[in-house]
Amino acid sequence: MDAVRDVKPGPGELFTEERSAEVVCASLAAAPEARVRQVLESLVRHLHGFVKDVELTEREWQQAIAFLTDTGHKCDDTRQEFILLSDVLGVSMLVETINHRAAGQATESTVTGPFHVVDSPPRELGADISLPGTGEPCLVTGRVTGPAGEPVPGAVVDVWHADAEGFYDVQRPDPAAVGSLRGLFTADDEGRFWFRTVVPRYYPIPVDGPVGRLLEAMARHPYRPAHIHFIVKAPGYAALTTHLFVDDSPYLDSDAVFGVKQSLVRAFPAVDDPDRARALGLANPFRSVDFEISLQPADGAGAGAGDGGAPGTTSTRT
Ligand code: BEZ
Ligand code: FE
Repeated sequence: MDAVRDVKPGPGELFTEERSAEVVCASLAAAPEARVRQVLESLVRHLHGFVKDVELTEREWQQAIAFLTDTGHKCDDTRQEFILLSDVLGVSMLVETINHRAAGQATESTVTGPFHVVDSPPRELGADISLPGTGEPCLVTGRVTGPAGEPVPGAVVDVWHADAEGFYDVQRPDPAAVGSLRGLFTADDEGRFWFRTVVPRYYPIPVDGPVGRLLEAMARHPYRPAHIHFIVKAPGYAALTTHLFVDDSPYLDSDAVFGVKQSLVRAFPAVDDPDRARALGLANPFRSVDFEISLQPADGAGAGAGDGGAPGTTSTRT
């Protein structure tokens, strides 16, 4: 109990250092929506608590405003610096995790990131999505199941990842690269999917803006460990946004955006089998990985169930 803070402000109570949050929160009393009041009250209490905790100087306040202004100026149709800021502060992952709590055996979720495109090319099962001759060949197989282990035939598996040098297609100047390393697959009658690609490499998040300067000030590196992105959708199930992480990648324990969950890390063992490689249409030797994806029922997930990710936390390109 805090005697000073528990007393509701009387009508016309003036602002003081001691009761700043109470006075500002009282000004929200007429907001008609209960959720708006709840969120803003909590925000005001935490913000005032933070300013008092560190005794913020005027110079620091001005620097913070300038930083946020720069962050806004860095945003355009394809660059969302505020989301990047939320990513490196762990807020995107926290919102994602709260809104997509995985029950039982369900596959855990993680962030979408800025390199998803909504019009990814539809692909046949087994398609090669790499640019030919550009990295270590890799076979990705998997199966989409529901909570009781039942197969989910027809599940749509949206895949995208960086290449062997750590670049997404949209970061390459070469127009021929666009659409590579991504695709929409439809699972077969047993919920299975498979495709050919190359093993992705770790890569840095964009650091040519205010978030890059912030990382420098924190003495933090900008790298994400190697991963393949997935969004899996099927009628009756909650959409899942997740990654498959490569277990021998650097930065698994220091992801710049805190996206790693241990349950999503898999070995990509090397396969040296010329006959199998020939049958698959891959160079020998190749790497291989299997990713079982377990969906939750549409009504069994958090607030974002069925929408393919928490709205507003990512900058999915349109
Ligand atoms: C990504 O994995 O593509 C990503 C996620 C967050 C920030 C930058 C990139
Ligand atoms: Fe990524």
